Amino acid sequence: MQIWITGAGSGIGKALALRYAAGGHSVVVSGRTLDKLEAVRDEAEGLSGRIIPMTFDVTDDDAVPASSEQLAGLTPHLDLVIMNAGACEYTKGQTLDPAMFRRVMDANFFGMINTTNVALPLLRQAPDRPMLAGVCSLAGFIGFPRAEAYAASKAASRYLMHSLHIDFGDFVDVCAINPGFVETPMTERNDFPMPFLMTADEAAGRIQTGLQKRPRELNFPRRLTFALRLAQLSGGLWYTLMRRQREKSLQREKSLQRDKEPRKRDNKEQNKSA
Ligand SMILES: NC(=O)c1ccc[n+]([C@@H]2O[C@H](COP(=O)([O-])OP(=O)(O)OC[C@H]3O[C@@H](n4cnc5c(N)ncnc54)[C@H](OP(=O)(O)O)[C@@H]3O)[C@@H](O)[C@H]2O)c1
Repeated sequence: MQIWITGAGSGIGKALALRYAAGGHSVVVSGRTLDKLEAVRDEAEGLSGRIIPMTFDVTDDDAVPASSEQLAGLTPHLDLVIMNAGACEYTKGQTLDPAMFRRVMDANFFGMINTTNVALPLLRQAPDRPMLAGVCSLAGFIGFPRAEAYAASKAASRYLMHSLHIDFGDFVDVCAINPGFVETPMTERNDFPMPFLMTADEAAGRIQTGLQKRPRELNFPRRLTFALRLAQLSGGLWYTLMRRQREKSLQREKSLQRDKEPRKRDNKEQNKSA
């Protein structure tokens, strides 16, 4: 197969690229950082497939025509595109920063629109029915604390996949991939419990196997998907629990802040008297 994976310099995208290359496929890997993409190519040396790096910032609307041309020079057609590039930022305290919302929506939602536009001509050249898959998230299923931007962008991209599944269904299968928690550079910074956390390679394995069935939606792990479906059915219970949890953590943040302030004042006074 001829494959293109975005955001393939690390995490899930990298693990997917290495798995497909091990299976003898030809994989164009893209991202903003050429060094990371070249390192993935070097790691794939000796595998039966090949990895071809191509820089592409998914948020750059103006780069779409040139990237389309560049991609056409690297691969004759595309059988599979995995739109995996993404960014995660959480809201802080009770403030909503529109610039942060735009950054996250740009990478996770508009990024998929740009990627689809780059890929379309080559998907149309595929000898057999191709597949377009977007990595969304189980986070988009229900409201989570501090996820106003990230989870909303993932819910939007999931919806985008569902609509594309209808509108482009005459020539391509479109799939929304919704992973749970995966150990990657993105989740390294998370300061909350991540139930059923799996490695990037495990997640890539689920995606690779799952896509063979060409589903409209691929959700994993099953236990977390089931728990979130139950939460959706629970009416207000989920939101009551989440609110309680959030109130506790806001109180914790406030008391930490209060502890820090007298220390800051003491330091200032010491500096003055010195
Ligand atoms: N980890 C999880 O628990 C989890 C769960 C559900 C869904 N996901 C989704 O899975 C996808 C992969 O994430 P990951 O966990 O593997 O994290 P990751 O290692 O941080 O991978 C994200 C990749 O996207 C690339 N990227 C970011 N912004 C980009 C841009 N504007 N243009 C092109 N590439 C860009 C990054 O490379 P450069 O910085 O070099 O561009 C990076 O390689 C994301 O869409 C994420 O939201 C992750």
